[in-house]
Amino acid sequence: MSATAKKTASSAEDIRACKGKTPIVSLTAYTTPMARFMDAHCDFVLVGDSVGMVLHGLTSTLGVTMDMMIMHGQAVARGLQSALMVIDMPFGSYEETPQQAFRNAARLMAETGAGAVKLEGGVEMAETIRFLVARGIPVMAHIGLTPQSVNTLGGYKVQGRDEQADKVLADARAVADAGAFSVVLEKVPQKLADQITADVAIPTIGIGASAGCDGQILVVDDMLGFFTAFKAKFVKRYAQLGDDAEAAIAAYAAEVRAREFPAPEHVFADQAPKKSAQKK
Ligand code: KIV
Repeated sequence: MSATAKKTASSAEDIRACKGKTPIVSLTAYTTPMARFMDAHCDFVLVGDSVGMVLHGLTSTLGVTMDMMIMHGQAVARGLQSALMVIDMPFGSYEETPQQAFRNAARLMAETGAGAVKLEGGVEMAETIRFLVARGIPVMAHIGLTPQSVNTLGGYKVQGRDEQADKVLADARAVADAGAFSVVLEKVPQKLADQITADVAIPTIGIGASAGCDGQILVVDDMLGFFTAFKAKFVKRYAQLGDDAEAAIAAYAAEVRAREFPAPEHVFADQAPKKSAQKK
């Protein structure tokens, strides 16, 4: 491939094929510039419904709409050339019937160019996953802590401890059997995550799970230190951009109040500067 040739976008099948070979790298993205930073480094980028909490100030993901997902999906797509784009199905867009799920998944893919959708749920969503996959929609499943079910789970708790472990394992098996090309394991004990990774034939993508998962995902604003409302145990901050942003804003405010900004180099003279002599 020449240095300028455009790489083909990765597909769900490329992600599936990483199982047992190379660790899968992924992050969430919601905007074009962030997607551009990620494209060369991530195997897939998730337009997560976490966008509601991270960018829109919602207190859960429940208020995220199809229109929000489509708008952010379109923005992310503009920043990606090679990474696969996966888009979350928002709460209420897929749980009712497989037909409802198909309609909304097809709309998300058609209007954003996403190569796959992600939906939350295990055994109870297996029929829907099978329905979508049979009709051309690659599905990433999401089990363990499923934030859209925060109200029935009683909070953002670790899932799969003690006697709950069998349920999470059954969920993983059900989504794999139904044809999901990979499965996100969120907030699942390390040992159980390792057991699931060994048990199912599809890649496991961990978030608060285990380094032994086939891949990892984090919410980008968490790992960059932009989202500072709270920090989950499983988040590692690779930068402190929230602190940097606040310090920069404070410095700007102080300079404006002191009439130090704009400085001479930021303002325009009455007359345009003379052009230097034209090159012969
Ligand atoms: O919406 C999201 O960001 C997610 C990840 C946490 C996996 O679903």
